[in-house]
Amino acid sequence: MRLYSLRASLDNTDFPRRARQQNMGQQANTALPDGFQIEGYTIIRQISIGGFSIVYLAKDPSGQNVALKEYLPNSLALRRRGEITPIIKPEYQDSFRYGLKCFFEEGRALARLSHPNVVRVFNFFRANETVYMVMQYEQGRTLQEFIKKHKGHISERFLRGIFVRLLNGLRVVHSNKLLHLDLKPSNIYLRQDNTPVLIDFGAVRQVLHTDSPVLKPMYTPGFASPEHYGDRKNFGPWSDIYSIGASLYTCLAGSPPPPADERQTRDTMQLAAKRWEGKHSEHFLNAIDDCLKLNHLLRPQSAYSLQKMLAESTELSDISVPPEKSVWDGKRLELGQKFEKILKRIKSPTP
Ligand SMILES: Nc1ncnc2c1ncn2[C@@H]1O[C@H](COP(=O)(O)OP(=O)(O)O)[C@@H](O)[C@H]1O
Ligand SMILES: [Mg+2]
Repeated sequence: MRLYSLRASLDNTDFPRRARQQNMGQQANTALPDGFQIEGYTIIRQISIGGFSIVYLAKDPSGQNVALKEYLPNSLALRRRGEITPIIKPEYQDSFRYGLKCFFEEGRALARLSHPNVVRVFNFFRANETVYMVMQYEQGRTLQEFIKKHKGHISERFLRGIFVRLLNGLRVVHSNKLLHLDLKPSNIYLRQDNTPVLIDFGAVRQVLHTDSPVLKPMYTPGFASPEHYGDRKNFGPWSDIYSIGASLYTCLAGSPPPPADERQTRDTMQLAAKRWEGKHSEHFLNAIDDCLKLNHLLRPQSAYSLQKMLAESTELSDISVPPEKSVWDGKRLELGQKFEKILKRIKSPTP
């Protein structure tokens, strides 16, 4: 079965929304204490606490640093100070378990991939009534933090370098029939040497040859493609490409473009080619605008084609192995035919 985003299920079903509005709404989860031992890993400190998971710096049994991600959605599970096992009310058990399964899926999907620009997953295990994912610990900062610090002063050359490399990672994701579906600067990590790493595959799902569940996908307004709001059958690499375009736009603007659903009704987004005319090369700005096209068929159709658009001749050596025949070709053809049919209907109205 295809499992769409866990966060989608938590955000979009009435039940958890009610849960948040009622007694568990304002709860804050407590991280496991420093020094805590779990399955041979020792927690050093908490790195991040979100509404959905906690990320820790930990040591593995050989003393190596790892990042440990703990599934703990605060709308469903509460860990009180001084306690280890979270409390899950009986009525939230099903949602919690469904989310747990999705979190496992994320780990499983990632564990299959091995690429320098995709976060490496070493292990995942169950403990404390929840589930943990063990990842390579990366040192650096997210692109979001980088943007905040350098607002409006990130060079085109730097961005081309980052995104050309990042797209090497995204190509591996896509060639495994997976889509990230939540690409945004806070899910792009920059190592100390500025090599980019894709993190947070919470929305990643195998989307080819699978039945679609009733759940809606998760999305981050501004970065989510129009397909996130509409027909999920149209999801493809082009949907991640939209988010890449929105991330590049954010690097220049300091804030994301307007949400795609708003743009579809009334598009107030200023084109990059206009907004930064004369400040950056026309070629680069046009590439960003192409990614942000509302019609998915007009965007670069693969990470590789965007890479070629972004790479200057000197950077071509950063593009990894030539593209294998894309697993998405069939789907693109299918969508192209569908689009043609719609177009025909528009062009030749029935008398
Ligand atoms: N492998 C890692 N190495 C170092 N820090 C990480 C790693 N994975 C996540 N983080 C940190 O934790 C934060 C949250 O992780 P993320 O996977 O995006 O979870 P979520 O957004 O669901 O809370 C990231 O922004 C980053 O700062
Ligand atoms: Mg994240």
